[in-house]
Amino acid sequence: MVVAVVGLGAMGRAMAERLLSRGYELRVWNRTRARTQGLAAPVCESPADAARGAEVVMTSLSDDDAVSEVLLGERGLLQGLDDGAVHVGTSTISHALATTLVRIHAEHRRPYLSAPVVGRPEAAANGQLVMLAGGEESLHECCRPLFDDLARRVVRFSNAPTANLAKIVVNTMIGGTIELLGEVMALGEKGGIAPSDTVDLLIGTLFDCPAVATYGRRIAAEQFEPAGFRLALGLKDLELALSAGDELRAPLPAANVVRDHLLAAMATGREDIDWSGLTTVVRAEAGLSDGERQAVKRP
Ligand SMILES: NC(=O)c1ccc[n+]([C@@H]2O[C@H](COP(=O)([O-])OP(=O)(O)OC[C@H]3O[C@@H](n4cnc5c(N)ncnc54)[C@H](OP(=O)(O)O)[C@@H]3O)[C@@H](O)[C@H]2O)c1
Repeated sequence: MVVAVVGLGAMGRAMAERLLSRGYELRVWNRTRARTQGLAAPVCESPADAARGAEVVMTSLSDDDAVSEVLLGERGLLQGLDDGAVHVGTSTISHALATTLVRIHAEHRRPYLSAPVVGRPEAAANGQLVMLAGGEESLHECCRPLFDDLARRVVRFSNAPTANLAKIVVNTMIGGTIELLGEVMALGEKGGIAPSDTVDLLIGTLFDCPAVATYGRRIAAEQFEPAGFRLALGLKDLELALSAGDELRAPLPAANVVRDHLLAAMATGREDIDWSGLTTVVRAEAGLSDGERQAVKRP
C-alpha cells in the first residue's frame, strides 16, 4: 500500500516510522522540512505532491487551522488526491470542522475517514494506538490493514464528526485526571506523603489505569520535557471540549478549571512542555515551588 503522511510532528513522525518498519511504501510532507530529516522516505514539495499516487493519505496536524490550510491551500491535499484515494484525518479537530470536512470531501468525490488517535508518540511508534475511526463502512474495511499496523484497537463510528467528538471526550477526561492528580499530589505532599507514594497509593487502591500510572509517574518525577503532548495542544483540546459543550448544551465545569490552569501555564511561557506540566500551576497555588519537594515525613 502506498501511504503519504502529511505532518511530521511528534505523532506524524512516530506513525511514519512505524509504517516504514512495517514495509509500507511511504512519502511524506511537512511544512518545516528540517523535521523530515533522517526518515527513509521521499520528501515531497507540497501536500498535493505527497497525495499524488498514494492510496491513503494520513494527516497529522496540530489544529483546525492547520488542517484547513493543508487541505484547501495552494498546492493543498485536495488538489493531489487521486480518484479513490482515501484521506485519513488523525488530527484532533473540532466537531464543527469534522462536519465541514465531510461535506468538502463529498463535493470533491474523495473519500474521507476521520481517525483521531488515543496514545502518545511512544504508542504510535510501537503500533499501540487506539484509533477512533468514523466514516463509511467500506472505508473502515479499506483502511483495516493499515490501522492494524498502527493500533492495538480500532473503535468504529458511523460518521466522522462523532469520532472527533469521541476523541475530545477522551482528552477531556485525561486533562481532568491530570488536574486531579496535581491536586491530590499537592495535598499529600503538604501533609507528608511523597508524590510518588501518592501515585502508588492510587494505583494500589482503585485507580490502576494507564492514565493515572503514566501521568502520575511523570508528574511525580517532574518530567515535563521533552513533551509527548505539548501543553499548547492540550489547551486547544480543552477549548474544543468547551465549544462542543456549548454547541451540544452540555456544561463542563471541571473542564473550565483545567483550561484555566493550562492557560496560566501558557501565560508563563510553558506552552512547549508536556501538558501534564499544568500541575506546576496547581502546585504553585498550593504554595509548593517547582523542583523543590516538601520534606516528606514517611510513616
Ligand atoms: N502528541 C500526542 O501525544 C498526541 C496524541 C494524540 C493526538 N494528538 C493530536 O495529533 C495532532 C498532531 O500532534 P503532535 O503532537 O504531533 O503535534 P506537533 O508535534 O506540535 O506537530 C504539529 C504538526 O502540525 C504542523 N502544522 C502546524 N500548523 C501548520 C500549518 N499551518 N500548516 C502546515 N502544517 C502545520 C507542524 O508542522 P511544523 O513542523 O512545520 O511546525 C507539525 O507537523 C494534533 O491534532 C494533536 O492534538 C497528539
